Amino acid sequence: MSEKKAQLTIDGVADPIELPVYEGSTGPDVVDVRSLVSKGIFTYDPGFMSTAACDSEITYIDGDKGILLHRGYPIEQLAERVSFLDTCYLLLDGELPNSTEKAEFENSIRYHTMVDEQIHQFFRGFPRTAHPMAMLVGVVGALSAFYHDTLDNENPEHRKLAAHRIIAKMPTLAAMCYKHGVGQPFMYPQNDMGFAENFLHMMFGTPCDPPKVSKILSRAMDTIFLLHADHEQNASTSTVRLAGSTGANPYACIASGIAALWGPAHGGANEAVLAQLAEIGDESNIEEYILRAKDKDDPFRLMGFGHRVYKNFDPRATVMRGICDEVLDELGLENDPLFRIARKLEKIALEDEYFIERKLYPNVDFYSGIILKAIGIPTGLFTVIFATGRTPGWIAHWDEMLSSPYKIGRPRQLYKGHAKRDIPS
Ligand code: ACO
Repeated sequence: MSEKKAQLTIDGVADPIELPVYEGSTGPDVVDVRSLVSKGIFTYDPGFMSTAACDSEITYIDGDKGILLHRGYPIEQLAERVSFLDTCYLLLDGELPNSTEKAEFENSIRYHTMVDEQIHQFFRGFPRTAHPMAMLVGVVGALSAFYHDTLDNENPEHRKLAAHRIIAKMPTLAAMCYKHGVGQPFMYPQNDMGFAENFLHMMFGTPCDPPKVSKILSRAMDTIFLLHADHEQNASTSTVRLAGSTGANPYACIASGIAALWGPAHGGANEAVLAQLAEIGDESNIEEYILRAKDKDDPFRLMGFGHRVYKNFDPRATVMRGICDEVLDELGLENDPLFRIARKLEKIALEDEYFIERKLYPNVDFYSGIILKAIGIPTGLFTVIFATGRTPGWIAHWDEMLSSPYKIGRPRQLYKGHAKRDIPS
């Protein structure tokens, strides 16, 4: 299988250990270290910075070149030419749908948009002040109670049904998280509407006043979902895979992914962008915040700038920037003080030596935060929107893992605690 080899020499071990090296279709090679455990050696890589934990055919990222491909297609082309649901189909199936497949898939998603009425009781148990992510993690986990006995993870048709169900129900649950917080009645999904349009309807409609959802805002929402659809083995997707590797129920696995996404170092960043813009408060304060960002002795960071993987530009941020302009224009918000601060920050960061040298470009969270705020989505719901968009990625990875032989995920450790000792008598 592998022609290339790596050799590992360890002090005190007589012969070098030979390890196979594998080539992906594109991207870095990997050294197969699986045999090391039989020689009593573990590899050490906290944060998994150098570790490929699986094979995958779904998504490829080259952070240095600003490339993000889903099943080979660049994210910019997908954002421009296809819908979020087409992208879901692509992630799950491997190809974009033809017109018959598209119609069948969209029908299936429509068919599954409602949630069991018992789910309403779950929401009643949450305080009105609960964080929307706290509710989402709970109700998505609770779905496993409705679809457990009839679900066989080894059966591809069952996995497909679970994937359609969770993609379809996420916007319904996301909107319910909002409605519960503001004390309004839950809105039922409208199956004659598109995916994003339906979400905005369930968010902003009331039984006495169904909203008229603008095409530009629906398109912006669809693109936000699409741009978040997958990002290979990030923390939440790896969490879904790890939970899935035990054979757990898929809705419980997705709930574990939602929990991992919640943190500010992952999905919570766009919420932090808006909090910081509000803290800056006025254009006259920007300079002071820029100085703080550059000060080595100040841990302060400008939220929405920089990315661990993308070191030139984030291709999703480029698309999002265009959508941001359209949305602010549509809503007549170009002169809103908060958005003026955002625009000015963006300009300074793109021109300032400190940011240019360190390749700190506005990231996807910077623009998505601004767009969501402009649409009227409360900041507490931003990560819920991210979770809704990321669901097809999570479930596609879960399905991919279960489609071929897999092992339970079980990392090892460098133990630094006490060696064996006895309790003093
Ligand atoms: N503001 C000011 N300075 C920054 C920022 C920032 N946002 N980000 C990085 N830097 C500086 C660091 O101080 C460091 O400077 P130095 O070389 O003089 O010491 C240099 O840039 C490199 O920083 P690292 O921390 O090594 O970069 P890393 O790749 O580890 O961090 C991260 C990436 C965590 C995203 C960081 O840029 C950051 O904290 N950004 C703000 C939070 C944010 O927007 N997160 C969302 C990321 S996108 C996503 O999750 C979808």
